[in-house]
Amino acid sequence: MQAKIEQKRQRLLGIAPDLPLHKLQLVVAPTAASLPALAVVALLLLLATARRPCSFLDAYRSGVVSLPSPSRTSPPHLGRSAAAARVPSGCDIFRPGQWVPDDDAPYYTNLTCPLIQEHQNCMKYGRPDRGFLRWRWRPDGCDLPRFDAAAFLDAVRDTSLAFVGDSLARNHMQSLMCLLSKVAYPKDVSTTTNPEFRTMRYEAYNFTMAIFWSPFLVRGHQPDPRRHMWDIYLDEPDAAWRDAVSGFDRVVLSAATWFTRPAMFYEAGGGRVRVVGCHYCLVPGVPDRTLRYSLRMALRSALRVLTGPRFNGTVILRTLSPTSHFEGGEWDRGGDCRRTRPFAANETRVAGLDLDLHAVQVEEFSRARAEAEASGGGTRLALMDTTAAMVLRPDGHPSRYGHWPHENVTLYNDCVHWCLPGPIDAWNDMLLQMLLADPS
Ligand SMILES: *[C@@H]1O[C@H](CO)[C@@H](O)[C@H](O)[C@H]1NC(C)=O
Ligand SMILES: *[C@@H]1O[C@H](CO)[C@@H](O)[C@H](O)[C@H]1NC(C)=O
Ligand SMILES: *[C@@H]1O[C@H](CO)[C@@H](O)[C@H](O)[C@H]1NC(C)=O
Ligand SMILES: *[C@@H]1O[C@H](CO)[C@@H](O)[C@H](O)[C@H]1NC(C)=O
Ligand SMILES: *[C@@H]1O[C@H](CO)[C@@H](O)[C@H](O)[C@H]1NC(C)=O
Repeated sequence: MQAKIEQKRQRLLGIAPDLPLHKLQLVVAPTAASLPALAVVALLLLLATARRPCSFLDAYRSGVVSLPSPSRTSPPHLGRSAAAARVPSGCDIFRPGQWVPDDDAPYYTNLTCPLIQEHQNCMKYGRPDRGFLRWRWRPDGCDLPRFDAAAFLDAVRDTSLAFVGDSLARNHMQSLMCLLSKVAYPKDVSTTTNPEFRTMRYEAYNFTMAIFWSPFLVRGHQPDPRRHMWDIYLDEPDAAWRDAVSGFDRVVLSAATWFTRPAMFYEAGGGRVRVVGCHYCLVPGVPDRTLRYSLRMALRSALRVLTGPRFNGTVILRTLSPTSHFEGGEWDRGGDCRRTRPFAANETRVAGLDLDLHAVQVEEFSRARAEAEASGGGTRLALMDTTAAMVLRPDGHPSRYGHWPHENVTLYNDCVHWCLPGPIDAWNDMLLQMLLADPS
């Protein structure tokens, strides 16, 4: 029996890159995973498996785009007052709301911003419609001012900001650099050539921005790339950022989608490191605790280290970017995101796996904040709750405009990342308001 299951698992995983989703669901029907969860699992499983150069998520692993040299730095706007437009007190920018027309958008283009990653440069690759650019987020009952580059740079003068996490963290940081390019371009002062770890300086403002690749936030690795399984050490914060962020004033965390990959979960809990469960491993005797468990425990470990003595700044936890925007099929069966305008607030809402993962994030955030308050540590925590706003923007993804139509590559429609410019720019409208409210 055991041998048979193992054989089935090998077969499943071995042919996964070419396996249509319905077969996958058939094979694994007895597992505890729900179908929507499984769809995402399958998506990421297939994405994860491919070591081929051009397959989905791995194709997005080329890091922050470097500036053409010599890099330009504008003079500081010394005379300018920091009269940033603020939301009125009592306005919760993350409360339910809607996207309303913004005739002044976009605020940059691929010509004014040379920092857009190829796969998110939707205009370059022929996206024909422009309407999706002209919306802004409006929380019910108040207005969220659009990004003000000079005000942002004033707010972050003499500070540092680290993005830690997955490719959505990079998408976010590139949006920020593009919005700032109206006033200043950064200088790449990275100490490594690894594109996943970049440090950018806005010299005139003494502001440093950096990105650390750590899609699980805790230690995770693939013991054998042919077997498509990940080992995730749920109580070991990833050394890729753990010590490096201690000197930063602010850290923005981004993690969720990578947890959908099949994985074995390890925990030491003070003792010997042992398997405590798995997600979609189909190994007899190992309980499938699902990605809800791994996301929860990894987040708990990451937040614990950040609320401890290693870090005394502000932690911003950004909630997940929706995983649910494929329509008309699964990601590998023609699923696509071809809408050209946002949903109205009454047309959709956060549901299914997105809702579960969001709940995990909010719960772990609240737990960490309560612990930090109880211990009287120096860390402040803020939740950047973007999920409900973004679930209304199925029109903002690259879809098939992340590469040339004639390119002979297996790149699926991308309904995960966001075009630049695009709705993700609203994350920085929100970030600016959060910084204005955060005395650093
Ligand atoms: C910018 O987008 C235009 C289409 O709007 C495209 O023709 C051009 O090649 C793009 N340029 C760059 C540098 O990405
Ligand atoms: C630059 O900012 C750092 C804090 O990030 C501060 O310690 C330093 O004094 C600042 N340098 C100048 C020249 O103001
Ligand atoms: C944070 O503050 C605590 C208590 O003031 C101090 O012991 C610790 O060294 C600080 N950590 C960092 C990284 O500055
Ligand atoms: C959503 O609300 C608008 C008015 O804001 C209304 O016209 C429309 O019919 C509603 N749609 C649904 C599906 O309820
Ligand atoms: C596309 O790539 C595949 C596999 O690499 C190859 O067999 C095929 O000939 C290529 N087609 C074209 C039109 O280049």
